[in-house]
Amino acid sequence: MTDCLGDGAGDMTPMDLYEKLTSQGDTVRTLKTEKAAKADIEAAVQLLLKLKVDYKQVTGQDYKTGCPPSECAVSQDNGPAAAADGEDMVDPWNVSTTNAKGVDYDKLIVRFGSSKIDQELVDRIERVSGQKAHRFLRRGIFFSHRDMHQVLDAYEKNKSFYLYTGRGPSSEALHVGHLIPFIFTKWLQDTFDIPLVIQLTDDEKYLWKDLSLEDCHRYTVENAKDIIACGFDINKTFIFSDLDYMGASPDFYRNVVKVQKHVTFNQVKGIFGFGDSDCIGKIAFPAIQAAPSFSNSFPQIFKGRKNVQCLIPCAIDQDPYFRMTRDVAPRIGYPKPALLHSTFFPALQGAQTKMSASDANSSIFLTDTPKQIKNKVNKHAFSGGKDTVEEHRKYGGNPDVDVSFMYLTFFLEDDEQLEKIRQDYASGALLTGELKKRLIETLQPMITSHQERRKQVTEETVKQFMTPRPLDFNF
Ligand code: TYM
Repeated sequence: MTDCLGDGAGDMTPMDLYEKLTSQGDTVRTLKTEKAAKADIEAAVQLLLKLKVDYKQVTGQDYKTGCPPSECAVSQDNGPAAAADGEDMVDPWNVSTTNAKGVDYDKLIVRFGSSKIDQELVDRIERVSGQKAHRFLRRGIFFSHRDMHQVLDAYEKNKSFYLYTGRGPSSEALHVGHLIPFIFTKWLQDTFDIPLVIQLTDDEKYLWKDLSLEDCHRYTVENAKDIIACGFDINKTFIFSDLDYMGASPDFYRNVVKVQKHVTFNQVKGIFGFGDSDCIGKIAFPAIQAAPSFSNSFPQIFKGRKNVQCLIPCAIDQDPYFRMTRDVAPRIGYPKPALLHSTFFPALQGAQTKMSASDANSSIFLTDTPKQIKNKVNKHAFSGGKDTVEEHRKYGGNPDVDVSFMYLTFFLEDDEQLEKIRQDYASGALLTGELKKRLIETLQPMITSHQERRKQVTEETVKQFMTPRPLDFNF
């Protein structure tokens, strides 16, 4: 049992309570086996019962041995978060829902215990930054947060913060969905003028996939080029490979070890669904994704300061890592990282799953040619249109399930144009073929210019971004 859990249920997370209950169950069993004094057994049982009541109060569920809280429940392979029946599945490995409109993000906010990015927060970000909110904020694509008001409170008092995001380099090419957090992170960096660290978890991909260390490291460099091509400022950005930086930075490794000491196997099992046959590298890995949330992991940037606030933009699939990080942070003397979560860029076949590099047909890659983009959209993009032109003209299409329209909400900058497309499609004035054409015309130049910027990124530039060094900030 950890010695760091508070006694009141009020300040305990469902996982804390689950862990405490599991341990208390063990205590009762041991006392009984050892034929301890009746009063001791009675006291231990009373505590167990009280914990069960607390657990039900906090989670709304009955405690079951070996079955962690539903938000972090376990699936067979490497996926946790096998949600309760009928609920959407969202974890770092799987995203699926039966709803053609996509994951129910409002429900997810409740399940994950995060907060909605409401209009008030969007307005506040505009006020504090003096910039028009990014389209991802205006359109609810970044929809959930943890502690963003706290970040803004501090920023208003001239307390700076830093950004941390990442990528698991599992393939040579990124898909357009991967761009979402990076495009938004660039906007945050430009808007708030703050440092950024980007973790490339080549170690994670080696542990999870059937890839050699050499492949993972090579993908790191290739992926770094795509990330750099998003336009990050070299004087304000540090990109690192875990395989390189873990060995080069004693301060980083110290934080990894601190996290490892304060998170139990029970906890990661509950959060990530690890099983007995998972290699121990996987079990230890979440601490490595947690460590960049603490500023003293980067002494070259923050001069050893341990209290610079971290803000993490990512899609909500990464939240389990940071629920764990936020739980452990105060126990090892660090501020909790704040988060901004995005929705998922859907697969071409429909919003029931996210775009994923492991399914080539579901994805548009940043390496695709204009012709490939056209063919993929025309052939695979799920349509909300009607079967015949006559029916479509009469009844209109459904933009809420139409993948081409969804993609345009991510990439078309002009709000009025987007709204006109929505109305025309819904009324039947705009046909599916015409909508797909609009999307193709939006994606082709966007990806071609990304490819041109990527060509300009030399090995030398990658090396500079990936060299531990001070950035243009005084901490
Ligand atoms: P990875 O490589 O799976 O994904 C990289 C980033 O892209 C987001 N993402 C998506 N966003 C929108 N729509 C999609 N279809 C989509 N697919 C992926 C992910 O949420 C992520 O932000 N373990 C991580 C690497 C990592 C990381 C981090 C990510 C390490 N530290 C800190 C975010 C923040 C991974 O494998 O990401």
